Amino acid sequence: MNVLVIGSGGREHAIVWKVSKSRHIDKIYCCPGNAGISELAECINFDDNNFGALVDFVKYEGIDLTIVGPEVPLSKGIADVFEKEGRKILGPNMEAAQLEGSKVFAKDLMRRYGIPTAEYKAFTSCLHAEDYVGMKGAPIVIKADGLAAGKGVIVAETVDEAINGLRLIMKDRAFGDAGNRVIVEECIHGEEASFMAFTDGKTILPMVSSQDHKRVFDGDNGPNTGGMGAYSPAPVITEKLESIIMEKVMRPMIRGLQSEGIKYKGILYAGLMIKNNQPYVLEFNCRLGDPETQPVFSRLKTDLIDIALAIIDEKLSDINLEWKPDASVCIVIASKGYPGVYEKGKIITGLDDVKKMNDAFVFHAGTAFNNNKLVTSGGRVLGVTALGKDIKDAKDWAYMAIEKINFNGMHYRKDIADRAIKRQ
Ligand code: AMP
Ligand code: GLY
Repeated sequence: MNVLVIGSGGREHAIVWKVSKSRHIDKIYCCPGNAGISELAECINFDDNNFGALVDFVKYEGIDLTIVGPEVPLSKGIADVFEKEGRKILGPNMEAAQLEGSKVFAKDLMRRYGIPTAEYKAFTSCLHAEDYVGMKGAPIVIKADGLAAGKGVIVAETVDEAINGLRLIMKDRAFGDAGNRVIVEECIHGEEASFMAFTDGKTILPMVSSQDHKRVFDGDNGPNTGGMGAYSPAPVITEKLESIIMEKVMRPMIRGLQSEGIKYKGILYAGLMIKNNQPYVLEFNCRLGDPETQPVFSRLKTDLIDIALAIIDEKLSDINLEWKPDASVCIVIASKGYPGVYEKGKIITGLDDVKKMNDAFVFHAGTAFNNNKLVTSGGRVLGVTALGKDIKDAKDWAYMAIEKINFNGMHYRKDIADRAIKRQ
């Protein structure tokens, strides 16, 4: 089979890597990909929002399956265009992808189907939202309704901070139309975890649990990022809690969507806050997490193409997911300045030495070739991922691999997975 993967980050490298191990695979394409991906796939440079051109390319090259990494093309309806042309694509259609594309849509569904989440109110008027914040007090959370590249959430410690956040989103329109509406919600304190599942709209197969590290600095300090590292499993998600999450969150959401006449096929990702051993949904995503996919797919034994085809054909109940018992840790190395304005074009060395290590793998994110030299080209550059007999072992291997890697201005957290190790 020929497979196309859409996207350019560490998540997409992990998808391409997993696809490359499939018994079905002939050729992999990636749009647009990155330097690491280009070792496994032919990278093509289409505008990934020009779905018509992409579908023509898929027909011309005889591509049998397309897997979509990021949320933006899904929210813009890439799956609808491909399905209309009779092309197999993994990812929900535009209507279903609203679950991530509109926080108001997601929260209203959660309320309607009794899914545990923070108490909230939606606003189209900044003044009314400010009044509500004044009434509720701080801490309080402000969320732009639409997609804002992970930046549209402000966890405000004071009322002033919340009001500034509202004005930034609604008046200064920092995220454009994504700020036409906002959610103001209760702040929940607890431990975060990521819960991802494959679903064909009927069967839901949970993946192993994982946990991201959103803040840029050790000890969860500094601004939020796309994610500075992740590990799997997340010990906070016990077996008992997993069945509670399936019962209270995942099944009601898929059933709820069904009763709204929406078929949800693809990946359903619940960003959870665990408080007193109970899950509260902070957000739903319609795609795999980045960097959670790197450790989670490192543990996945089942052929990803078998899973993708079963989802598309609505036969997911035929699949039995198998996982390596090992733990996995992914540490993100970022460019100087990230998550603010960051440097680019720095030469990366040492990856050949990591290739000699067993059970350590470097997933590329912001990398490119310049005059045949591997250079940085994004904020998050590499996701150094290792397997181990437990999380401590995996963490030690991952940091050992990082020792071999160098580029000017590189930074990474030194405490990825420490919380999980303390728990074990
Ligand atoms: P979201 O994009 O909705 O997941 O929010 C981004 C981050 O903001 C989350 O990963 C949490 O760290 C934080 N957050 C979101 N909602 C809440 C909440 N209701 N209470 C506390 N923290 C939150
Ligand atoms: N790592 C968080 C996300 O993918 O949304």
